[in-house]
Amino acid sequence: MIHSVETYLQTERLTLRRFTSDDADLLIELDSDAAVMRYLSGGEPTAPEIVRERHLPNIIAGYEKWGGDLGLFAAHERDGGAFIGWFCLRPEPQGPLDEAELGYRLRQAAWGKGYATEASRALLGKAFDGLGLRMVWAETMTMNQGSRNVMEKLRMTLTDTLPTPPDMKMVEGAEHGGVRYEITKEQWERR
Ligand SMILES: CC(C)(COP(=O)(O)OP(=O)(O)OC[C@H]1O[C@@H](n2cnc3c(N)ncnc32)[C@H](O)[C@@H]1OP(=O)(O)O)[C@@H](O)C(=O)NCCC(=O)NCCS
Repeated sequence: MIHSVETYLQTERLTLRRFTSDDADLLIELDSDAAVMRYLSGGEPTAPEIVRERHLPNIIAGYEKWGGDLGLFAAHERDGGAFIGWFCLRPEPQGPLDEAELGYRLRQAAWGKGYATEASRALLGKAFDGLGLRMVWAETMTMNQGSRNVMEKLRMTLTDTLPTPPDMKMVEGAEHGGVRYEITKEQWERR
């Protein structure tokens, strides 16, 4: 099935859309900023060939797998159209379809404007009210305060601490491990 680039979600200031095979350069540029990658790779950029040959094909395969409803989505400012990064609402590869991970990676120019909270809140609304999800979780490094603040503003609950995965030992603050936050449909509706 072919999915067009039609809008996935709109918020007051942002549009989320599906990625296409033409979007490699946007992802390569995003992952080339050491500040963006600080708590993901320790600042190392993602190799362009990994983006082209692995990440982008996986993103597009996800739309096929989940009918275009779940996956990773490009975010643009509605005013002017600038690409600001991506958000995801994505099940585990072999996991249940009513549980998904919320994630976000924004260009530095877009930080500090409330964009991560705005789009994530809209994604939770879609997840619980439109897509029939039961639970959404998010994970980040313990020291990634910006990311944790987004989760807390969404009223997600800290449910677990996590060991740092072996491939993230070089990340600053890796010795403090990671954190997991969750929100259920019931909690979302009671908020
Ligand atoms: C983490 C990230 C998504 C936050 O995006 P953002 O759009 O700036 O977040 P928001 O503006 O919605 O901020 C939410 C809250 O967190 C605070 N915050 C944001 N970044 C912060 C930081 N680096 N340190 C401390 N607080 C921070 C904001 O002030 C805001 O709180 P407030 O409303 O009380 O002021 C963004 O910095 C980013 O993409 N970083 C690089 C990639 C990354 O680390 N992704 C997460 C991996 S799990």
